[in-house]
Amino acid sequence: MKNEVMRLFRERYHDDPELVARAPGRVNLIGEHTDYNDGFVLPMAIDHAVWIALRRRTDRSVELYSVDFQERDAFQLADTGCSSSGWIRYVQAMALVLAEEHELVGFEGVIGGDVPIGAGLSSSAAIELAAARAFATLSHIAWDARAMALRAQRAENVWVGVNCGIMDQLICAAGQEGHALLIDCRSLETRQVPMPSGVAVIVLDTATRRGLVDSAYNERRQSCHAAAQLLGVPALRDVDSAGFAARAADLPELLGRRARHVVTENERTLAAADALASGDARLVGRLMNESHASLRDDFEVSSRELDGIVEIARQQRGCLGARMTGAGFGGCAVALVDAAQAAGFAEAVTLEYRAAYELHPNVYVCTAAQGASVA
Ligand code: GLA
Repeated sequence: MKNEVMRLFRERYHDDPELVARAPGRVNLIGEHTDYNDGFVLPMAIDHAVWIALRRRTDRSVELYSVDFQERDAFQLADTGCSSSGWIRYVQAMALVLAEEHELVGFEGVIGGDVPIGAGLSSSAAIELAAARAFATLSHIAWDARAMALRAQRAENVWVGVNCGIMDQLICAAGQEGHALLIDCRSLETRQVPMPSGVAVIVLDTATRRGLVDSAYNERRQSCHAAAQLLGVPALRDVDSAGFAARAADLPELLGRRARHVVTENERTLAAADALASGDARLVGRLMNESHASLRDDFEVSSRELDGIVEIARQQRGCLGARMTGAGFGGCAVALVDAAQAAGFAEAVTLEYRAAYELHPNVYVCTAAQGASVA
């Protein structure tokens, strides 16, 4: 895809691009619906990315041709609100936030990527961070991954209108090749956790998308907030499972289950980061399985197809664990698999899922990639 973006740039502008900005998608290994509870997450940047090949413009405008949508779109840096829609809205949203503090230089070029769109692999964060890299380079803004991730989250919250946490933007900005990233979503401290050799991370796209993700997501956020208030803590991060067991009866049944997911998921995530670091992939797999059960039964954000593909995955030889990943209700699951069995695993899951659900899943054997970069 990078080559295609470069080729189209040369075709349109009869010149080499001044720079190529890139940012990856991500898959979350464990720590789901914990980021907006000030908790812990363990995502990994994947070897699927968005690329922007570009050169500067002097008229304070941004003009891009999208390979994926086969259309050109543009906006002015002088705009004080988000005038655009569709894919370029993420670029403009990023520009609006950066322009609060910096004088920006505009650009023109070609954007394209191979992060599946709307699948829960953070294609939007990838566009935001690639755009951030482009603006930062042209406008001489120092690259601080954490500060950029916070700006991208703000762009998404304020200008795109999605009330997401910090996970997606921070892993897209700060990922390191060969590593997963443990993030403390309260302090924003991070720890690079090396991926053990011999295991493959395999993303399983159920080929289902749910329209109501946003409203259900906001409803879960509100439930968590209400549970924290009833427990008298700033966030569910501040409760451990022993403390929760002692206080669970103070909560209505539904809020109790929502909170139990978050409390136990934070503990699983910390345990998984340690297990990954010490090469204990079996334990990571077990924790992923437990995470799925908790998301399905307590947090209730799974779906028939997600449960199905996870079940099929676990029956295959070499599977150490599998769970839904991302916000849920559709989209992708992730499995940890013995690398020697990865090819057979991918093929078997594809066949069995297709036969059972009459849907064609996309299966991606992923490696841990570098966060946003320029070339
Ligand atoms: C989406 C959001 C993230 C996070 C996950 C659930 O991906 O963008 O901030 O809340 O859902 O873990």
